[in-house]
Amino acid sequence: MEWGLENRIASIIKPNNNRALMLAVDHGYFLGPTEKLENPKKVIAPLLKHCDSLMLTRGVQRTSVPATTSTPMVLRVSGGSSIIGDDLSQEDITVSIEDAIRLNASALAMSIFVGSKYEYQTIVNLGKLVNEAAKYGLPVLAVTAVGKEMGKDARYLSLACRVAAEQGAHIVKTYYCDNFEKVVQSCPVPIIVAGGKKIPERDALQLTYNAIKGGAVGVDMGRNIWQSDNPVAMIKAVRSIVHGNSNVDQAFKLYKKLSIGNNKPNQNKSNKPNQNKSNKPNQNKSNKPKSTS
Ligand code: R5P
Repeated sequence: MEWGLENRIASIIKPNNNRALMLAVDHGYFLGPTEKLENPKKVIAPLLKHCDSLMLTRGVQRTSVPATTSTPMVLRVSGGSSIIGDDLSQEDITVSIEDAIRLNASALAMSIFVGSKYEYQTIVNLGKLVNEAAKYGLPVLAVTAVGKEMGKDARYLSLACRVAAEQGAHIVKTYYCDNFEKVVQSCPVPIIVAGGKKIPERDALQLTYNAIKGGAVGVDMGRNIWQSDNPVAMIKAVRSIVHGNSNVDQAFKLYKKLSIGNNKPNQNKSNKPNQNKSNKPNQNKSNKPKSTS
């Protein structure tokens, strides 16, 4: 592998244990001011040193992340639709390779919508992005977004991950599912798992644990960290699984220990699923492919 490419991948997937903890804060690119991510600068500041890399858009990077950081940036370069538009799968590449390099991106990220109306467009865009990125030794992370008719099952996710890898993606982000091992086994590049909608902290830790056990190199987690009542405690607990080989009980114990004194009046709030809210204003629109849930 070419030196620059290998070096950048190694900054995202740590070579000492082949694991990765990405913090995802790119949700605003189609959701707008997502619940608890209304002020990205405030959200990112306390979490930045606890993640291996940060997944975000150029707008948030320029406005909300100090340029003095040594944390690698995984830059989302696709977009074009919003939650209130006609079809979320209608994405294109919106960031030039020159701007990505100016921003010192360690990897580029874009979504493909396999099984959607815009499947062809997004898959061809992935191939084109890999072509461009290859000129500069930039790795590409493909986000497998789920089309409206597609379930998050191993059969569909295997297809989407494999399609992404065949187009040359260096890392594929997908969802955890039953028979997740099959998804991993049939994908020739590392798989990283998205956290999905807010669920109770223990469940999110279980998801992290299961994903790693199933062969994922790590997680790219957003809402289950910054929508927690205790984001720093939560990212540290997730980290203890990804990098410390903690089991779920140990990680949850750590979460609770670190949360003491930090909780708002209703401690149990953090254990309630917080579904739907993050996808406002209009998450229930029936014709939406689900790209982050
Ligand atoms: C969508 O906006 C993104 O690709 C997210 O980065 C991804 O879904 C991970 O975030 P979460 O853990 O909140 O699902």
